[in-house]
Amino acid sequence: MSDAATNLRVRPARAEDVPRIFETIGHWAAEGRMLVRPMPSIFENLRDFVVAEVVEEDGRARFAGNAALHVLWGDIAEVRGLAVAPDVQARGVGRALVEACEADARRVGIPRLFAWTYAVPFFEKCGFDVIDKTRDLHPRVWSECLRCPFFVGCNETAVAKRLEGVPMPEDLPEPPQAQVPPGIR
Ligand SMILES: CC(C)(COP(=O)(O)OP(=O)(O)OC[C@H]1O[C@@H](n2cnc3c(N)ncnc32)[C@H](O)[C@@H]1OP(=O)(O)O)[C@@H](O)C(=O)NCCC(=O)NCCS
Repeated sequence: MSDAATNLRVRPARAEDVPRIFETIGHWAAEGRMLVRPMPSIFENLRDFVVAEVVEEDGRARFAGNAALHVLWGDIAEVRGLAVAPDVQARGVGRALVEACEADARRVGIPRLFAWTYAVPFFEKCGFDVIDKTRDLHPRVWSECLRCPFFVGCNETAVAKRLEGVPMPEDLPEPPQAQVPPGIR
């Protein structure tokens, strides 16, 4: 197999990638390493996703992983659905996917990245810091949390990264306050 770091490319996801994205996320979700993502949600958010490929010596591209950047408000976007294929772990694919999400955030002028994760050391290597999820969540992250089926008993860690050189958007409207559904305190 070729060296992932030197023969790696990251590109926007296409419709035909969805089964591999679904399968790769499902693989790690079954191991308790991330949350499962239904296939309709992957299709609906397809333009958020990027795909990593290792280009083999014969020129063929092999699926190596995926990640999505989901804009939540003018000052924050979430890195989600990050999953590297089991046979190319620890070869720089995860970092390349996060860097592609960062580049996308810069392109649209979003100054802050956020993620929920069990892979804290990996995100720290990518320049993220752990934040206090009881205190420091952006209202839009909090709104999404309240809709999450895993809200009660959530044991993921919140991490965030300020993108240097990307200014906070001017005249940013206040985000709507999160509505706490009945039964949640
Ligand atoms: C977490 C994950 C995305 C990392 O991807 P990867 O391709 O294996 O990571 P990389 O090779 O790009 O690693 C980048 C750096 O993070 C470090 N790192 C990666 N995983 C790590 C871990 N579990 N513990 C400590 N350091 C880790 C690497 O050593 C590397 O450090 P270096 O730059 O000093 O060499 C991948 O292991 C994965 O798909 N895990 C299962 C699903 C998951 O946890 N997704 C995240 C949900 S938000």
